[in-house]
Amino acid sequence: MTVPKAISARRQTTDVDAMIADLRSCEHPHDVEVCGMLLHILPGVLSPRLSHAPDALVSKWRIQSGATVLDLGCGSGVLGLAALRAGAERLVALDINPQAVLTTKTNIERLGYADQAEVRLSDVYSALQPQERFDLILFAAPYWNRKANDDLERSCFDEDHSTMASALGRAHNWLTANGLMYVVFSDQGDVGRVVNLIDESKLRVRNMHVFRPSIEGGHIRIIWELTAR
Ligand SMILES: C[S@@+](CC[C@H](N)C(=O)[O-])C[C@H]1O[C@@H](n2cnc3c(N)ncnc32)[C@H](O)[C@@H]1O
Repeated sequence: MTVPKAISARRQTTDVDAMIADLRSCEHPHDVEVCGMLLHILPGVLSPRLSHAPDALVSKWRIQSGATVLDLGCGSGVLGLAALRAGAERLVALDINPQAVLTTKTNIERLGYADQAEVRLSDVYSALQPQERFDLILFAAPYWNRKANDDLERSCFDEDHSTMASALGRAHNWLTANGLMYVVFSDQGDVGRVVNLIDESKLRVRNMHVFRPSIEGGHIRIIWELTAR
């Protein structure tokens, strides 16, 4: 009897260890232009120069003028700041990495949004106040299913997608009635697991966008638009 060939998940293509080593070698702050903004990046923070997530999301999102935005896992602050620039009124940015909190704070001040934005150190939603609600939650997730050994690795690794599970499982508590959550992910992670997490959550898929790799050997990027049920 012929044994059918095993069908495996898509081969992982990005050398994430080399990317982490590159980030670790950055001992000094650098400036990078992304989404038309000049951002200042402190050592220990994922540089948007290595990510295509912001460009992908900004090409698809709709920002309601006056919206209140939560940037979950803000990193450099790129997504929340781009949302403010696109007409949002208020931003709360959260990150578990103190260097990311400092980087986002610096960028908010440099770009002149200090009156509209604040940044908090937070494990997923832990730093939110019970009464806070958002029209929009933005989450460019870490997507490799690996153990993160430090804050820098948390920008790429999410073991068993447990941060994603918390983010999706509790998002409905923080959304306004017509609120929307954008989740950016990649085929370097377990897409099937994330689809199951969405199914188990109190969110439903309003739209989904798939981006082909923009470079040879690059990965496929997925954006889900999710609403509270
Ligand atoms: C892929 S990076 C995205 C950064 C930025 N939003 C961007 O688009 O360039 C993921 C971010 O999530 C943060 N993060 C990881 N685990 C987290 C957690 N449990 N709570 C809050 N932030 C977390 C990381 O520190 C990192 O800044």
